[in-house]
Amino acid sequence: MAERLQLPQQGVAWPQLKQSMLDMADGDVAWRDGKAAVYVFHSGDEVMQVAHDAYSMFIAENGLGPGAFPSLRQMEKDVVNMALSLQQAPAEGAGSMTSGGSESILLAIKACRDHVLSQRSVDGTPEILAPYSVHPAFDKGAHMMGLKVVRVPCGADFKADVEAMAAAVNNNTVMLVGSAPCFPYGLIDPIGDLSELALANNLWLHVDACVGGYLNPFMQAVLDEPLEPYNFSIPGVSSMSLDLHKYGYAAKGASTVLYRHKDLYRAQAFHFTDWPCGHMYTPTFAGTRPGGAIAAAWAVLNYLGREGYEQRAAQINSARCTLIEGCEGLGLQIYGQPKLSIVAFGWPHGDILAVGEGLYEAGWFSSRVTQPDGIQYMISPEHHKTMPNYLNVLEKYVNEVKQGARTRRQGDVSYS
Ligand SMILES: Cc1ncc(COP(=O)(O)O)c(C=O)c1O
Repeated sequence: MAERLQLPQQGVAWPQLKQSMLDMADGDVAWRDGKAAVYVFHSGDEVMQVAHDAYSMFIAENGLGPGAFPSLRQMEKDVVNMALSLQQAPAEGAGSMTSGGSESILLAIKACRDHVLSQRSVDGTPEILAPYSVHPAFDKGAHMMGLKVVRVPCGADFKADVEAMAAAVNNNTVMLVGSAPCFPYGLIDPIGDLSELALANNLWLHVDACVGGYLNPFMQAVLDEPLEPYNFSIPGVSSMSLDLHKYGYAAKGASTVLYRHKDLYRAQAFHFTDWPCGHMYTPTFAGTRPGGAIAAAWAVLNYLGREGYEQRAAQINSARCTLIEGCEGLGLQIYGQPKLSIVAFGWPHGDILAVGEGLYEAGWFSSRVTQPDGIQYMISPEHHKTMPNYLNVLEKYVNEVKQGARTRRQGDVSYS
């Protein structure tokens, strides 16, 4: 057995460590060259510098202690209020900053479970009813908190099939979910119809806008056609998750979870007294909360402002149009009619996953979809510069597969 690595006896000088880290990063995806269509949301070096500096300023501060750090309390309050305004929440709306989309979703599940079950009983395991396309964070949360997710197949348009979901509602159903947009296809579910279903059955409706929360409000200004409504302007929406570390362009470790009313928000918190230190209150799952992530999000939101976000939405839109046009020119098929930042595409006459393998081997990272098979591309603003390169590489591998020079090597390839 190889010997396990030990902590060095003596510390190593920083310049040497820095070089080691740069060497390790050599093998990482070249996201600055536009090769990451997942994981990284590159919106330019200036924004990154702001996030970096703001993070460094508050790197030691802890959001667990708002009394000790009124600065962080104020920044979180500002971020949450800006988010509530962007999502047209009523005056009674409330929310928190969290560590990411998964934590935001998990907290909404906890709040829903505790709020709904304080008002009525269920026959068996409480159920979350969701379209097949929702993010696995719902399954993770259900697994951890004693609920069950019932995934209902999407319609032919790749969106939630609300009629089929209505047929699946039963006494155990406590939560309905829709995405705005969903991760696999980048499409907004019919939130208005889900809202009617929720109101008619007295159900909690969560809208997962982890991808779209800080994109949709600005995309609307760029698009020629109206975007489907998806936020608190729809009366049945109870809670929303919106990631700052995606299209908010903040440092990683930042999301927001929002509620239509303070009463729903209250069910999210955890209170405990039965230990030697008295009352412990945490509004989110974390104890210690990184001051840097809160500060960086606050700084980037204010640095960019509405205009900065709209400029980036325009860059994403231009890259999306280039991508769709390029794919169609290669005989590829776009899944649904994506208007935002995610485009999924397949190939009716060839093996798209073999093409995806080629891209992956050449260092171009993206996700994939399986129903039907396809490549999923999540566009960052900076991709408007590199999309032509991507399309050239895509064409190369489409041709290789067409000519029989490349076949899929792995049955169940995962390239993310
Ligand atoms: C729609 C959607 N919801 C939730 C998540 C989970 O977010 P995170 O990875 O920040 O936990 C993602 C991540 O990609 C997502 O796309």
